[in-house]
Amino acid sequence: SDAPGLRAAFSAPMADDIAKFVASVETDRHLLEADLRGSLAHVAMLEAVGVLTAEQATRLRHGLERIRAEGLDLDPAYEDVHMNVERRLEDLIGADARLLHTARSRNDQVALDLRLYVRDCEARLRLALAELTTALVDQAEAYADVVLPGYTHVQRAQPVSLAHVLLAYHAALTRDLERLRQPFISPLGAGALAGTAVPIDPRRTAQELGADGVFSNALDAVTDRDFAVNFVFAGALLAVHLSQLAETLILWCSQEFNFIHLPDELTTGSSLMPQKKNPDCLELVRGRAGQCIGELVNLLTTLKGLPVGYNRDLQETKPPVVRVGETVLASVNVCALAIRQMTVHREVMRQAASDEKLYATDLVERLVAQGVPFRTAYTIIGNLVRRGVPFSQVPADEWATLGLRVMPETFTPEQSIAGRTSHGGTSPARITDQIAAARAARRED
Ligand code: ARG
Repeated sequence: SDAPGLRAAFSAPMADDIAKFVASVETDRHLLEADLRGSLAHVAMLEAVGVLTAEQATRLRHGLERIRAEGLDLDPAYEDVHMNVERRLEDLIGADARLLHTARSRNDQVALDLRLYVRDCEARLRLALAELTTALVDQAEAYADVVLPGYTHVQRAQPVSLAHVLLAYHAALTRDLERLRQPFISPLGAGALAGTAVPIDPRRTAQELGADGVFSNALDAVTDRDFAVNFVFAGALLAVHLSQLAETLILWCSQEFNFIHLPDELTTGSSLMPQKKNPDCLELVRGRAGQCIGELVNLLTTLKGLPVGYNRDLQETKPPVVRVGETVLASVNVCALAIRQMTVHREVMRQAASDEKLYATDLVERLVAQGVPFRTAYTIIGNLVRRGVPFSQVPADEWATLGLRVMPETFTPEQSIAGRTSHGGTSPARITDQIAAARAARRED
C-alpha cells in the first residue's frame, strides 16, 4: 500500500500491517464534513490573499462540494480523512487538487477538524439537552401537586414535591448545558509547527469558519487539545448526571417503589420470564457513563507525556471525543423520552410521604419558632420518636405542654411541604419561582 502524497521521498511502500496500524479512517468518518469545511475556508483564504487564482479556487471548491454531496468511503491505504480527500479531489478535478495543501499541514488540519467536530457536537448536545430540561420543567408543572418522600441515604427524609426532585435534575443539567460552550479558536495556518513563508492570512481563515479567535502561537496551535479535554470532561460530567437520573428512575419503577411506570415502548423483555419489563435503556445510560469517565482518563493520559509539537499520539485524541459525543447524545435522548413518557403513580408516592416520621423535622422547626433552642427541640422530638408512639397519637395536652397545638390533620405531606418556603425550598411558592426562572432562562437562550 502506498500513498504518494505522503511518501515522495521513500523508495519502498509501507508494509501493509504498518499502514493498517497507523490509519485512523474509522474515527475519521465522523470528521469528513469538518475536513471539507476546513478546506473550503482554506481555499477562500488562499484566493483572497492571491495565492490561488479565482479559477483555481472555483475548481477546488467544486471538487470539495462534490465530495461533500457524494460522501466518501475512506481507504485505510490513505491513512486518514485528509489524504483520502486530497486523493479523491485529484480524481475529480485533476492537477488543481495539488494546490489544496499549500501552506497547510495535516497537523493544523487535524487540529481544526477536531475543533469543528467538537463545536458541532456541542451544538447538537445543547439542543438535545434543551429538550430534556424542557421535559423536566413541563413534568414539574404537570405534576405540581404530586408529593413523595425526599430521600437521603435512600432513607425517607422529608416530604417534597415531585417538581422539587425534577427541578434538582434540571439545575444540574442546565450547568452541563452551559459547560458545552467554549470559544472556537482556529488553528489553521499554523503549518506543521512553525508557520509558513507563503503569505497567508490565518485570521481570514478563522473568519471564514466563524471562529471566535485565531491561534497565537503555531507550535501551541498544533499541540493544543485543551478544547477536546474540556468537551470530554463536560460530556463525562453530563453522563454522570444522566446516570444519576437514570438510577433514580430505575429505583422508582421497581415494584418496591412503584412510584412510576415506564411504557412498553421504552422497556425490554426477558428471554425466560414472560412477565418482565425491564428499564434496560436507563441501565445503559448508567453503564455508559462509565465509558465516558474512562474516555476522559484515556484522553488526559494520552496527552500527559507529550513534548510540545505534533506527535502521532494526538491521533488517539480523536476517538474519545467522538465516542463521548455520540454516547452522551444518545443517552440524553433516552432520558428525555423516559421523563416525557413516564406515568406517575401519585397515590403511591403520597402514601409513602404520609409516613409520620417524615414530619419530625417540621415539629422541631415549630418548637424553634416558639423560641426553643434548636438542639433542645431536636432532643424533645427525638425522644418522642424513640418512645415509638406515632405523632398522631400523642395526646393534645402533651403537645400543649410543649406549647404546640397539633391536630391529626397537621400530618399531611402537603402541609409539611407548604411550610418550607425558604429560598430554593420545596413549597409550592418556591417551586413556582423555580419554574418561572427556568422558563425565562430558556427564552433568553
Ligand atoms: N493521521 C493523523 C491524524 O489523523 C494526522 C497526521 C498528522 N501528521 C503527521 N505527521 N503524522 O491525526
